[in-house]
Amino acid sequence: MDLHSRYMTIADLRARARGRVPHFAWAYLDTATGTEATLRRNRRALDRVLFTPSILHGEVAADLTTALLGRDYALPFGVAPVGQSGLLWPGAESMLARAATQAALPYTLSTVANATPEEIGPLTGGHGWFQLYPPRDIEMRRDMLARARDSGFDTLVLTVDVPVASRRERQVKGGLVQPPRLTPRILAQCALRPAWSLARAKAGMPRMKTLDRYTQDVTARDPTAHVGYLLRTAPDWDYLRWIRDAWDGPLIVKGVLRAKDAIRLQREGVDAIWVSNHAGRQFDAAPASIEALPAIRAACSLPILFDSGVESGLDILRAIALGADFVMMGRAWHYAVCALGRDGPAHMAEMLRRDLVANLGQLGVAHPRDLRGLAHVAEA
Ligand SMILES: Cc1cc2nc3c(=O)[nH]c(=O)nc-3n(C[C@H](O)[C@H](O)[C@H](O)COP(=O)(O)O)c2cc1C
Repeated sequence: MDLHSRYMTIADLRARARGRVPHFAWAYLDTATGTEATLRRNRRALDRVLFTPSILHGEVAADLTTALLGRDYALPFGVAPVGQSGLLWPGAESMLARAATQAALPYTLSTVANATPEEIGPLTGGHGWFQLYPPRDIEMRRDMLARARDSGFDTLVLTVDVPVASRRERQVKGGLVQPPRLTPRILAQCALRPAWSLARAKAGMPRMKTLDRYTQDVTARDPTAHVGYLLRTAPDWDYLRWIRDAWDGPLIVKGVLRAKDAIRLQREGVDAIWVSNHAGRQFDAAPASIEALPAIRAACSLPILFDSGVESGLDILRAIALGADFVMMGRAWHYAVCALGRDGPAHMAEMLRRDLVANLGQLGVAHPRDLRGLAHVAEA
């Protein structure tokens, strides 16, 4: 049976991934904060976005090429930043960066990934996106931006929805400690996941390598807080201005949910807004990202990226219809890597492409952007 009949949905990839990743890593990937109501709200709100199918529209050749910030991407979606990606599956950062670049999709490297910009930048053909968790120290800030730029990242993503660490109760209970160590409990979990453990043994223990040079004198006292939290600050508008001045390429601000923030960000000269509730990992009373999107679209004329809860090509169309220009995913790409290793990302991209084409065909629309205004939101 070929991969496309066996793993037809992201839920299929998730199910296989779950059986291959030790519990503590799974709890890090797959849980949110509080009661996880925001996570559920994302799904419910996406399901409420409906389109009425068209008839007698003849054959429509789908065109999925999507322009964003001066580049053409083959498909309207890309890889969102995921910290400690290589903890979830050894080598995940390079697998995803290579596959995304080969498929002409954007890849975003997190500040707290397990691979450095120097390792990953060259795999992105000079067009990687680097995500910054805002360092407090100004020299560290300068150094990180220079490293990103010199390694081949041309777009900066400033994440602003983590002013403090969230509690992530299920993740903590899962047993992940920082830096990751082989406690008896973790060893017992690893014993049940031989493929992961073998790959781990070859790759060694993961660490937040980008931060190595800044953290010689820093140790986290709380075993659930990682060094990334000790180095970062809660940024304000002055901080944003500093970043805008320091970075001469496209600047995207990630984690926006209020229309009035989007208006101000546009005034401050950012190049794109990333609407996100961080997949419910930060705040349990946030609106679904898809609920926040229409007001932000109405308020600003910048390109809008969207994430949180996207699980199919149809979800991508829903977001674009309600105002997004581009859609990003975090967990889904990691389900793909954990399920199928280096073949996972290309498989998932093709799965989503097929789903986009099938659903556009029902609507008689060639390009996702032509769906703008064609969706309606059903009553809760
Ligand atoms: C395990 C995990 C780690 C994450 N780490 C980061 C990070 O380092 N920086 C960041 O800006 N967002 C981070 N995010 C949020 C993602 O970039 C993205 O906003 C979110 O995963 C989108 O929702 P989705 O997973 O439903 O696609 C992380 C998400 C997950 C699941």
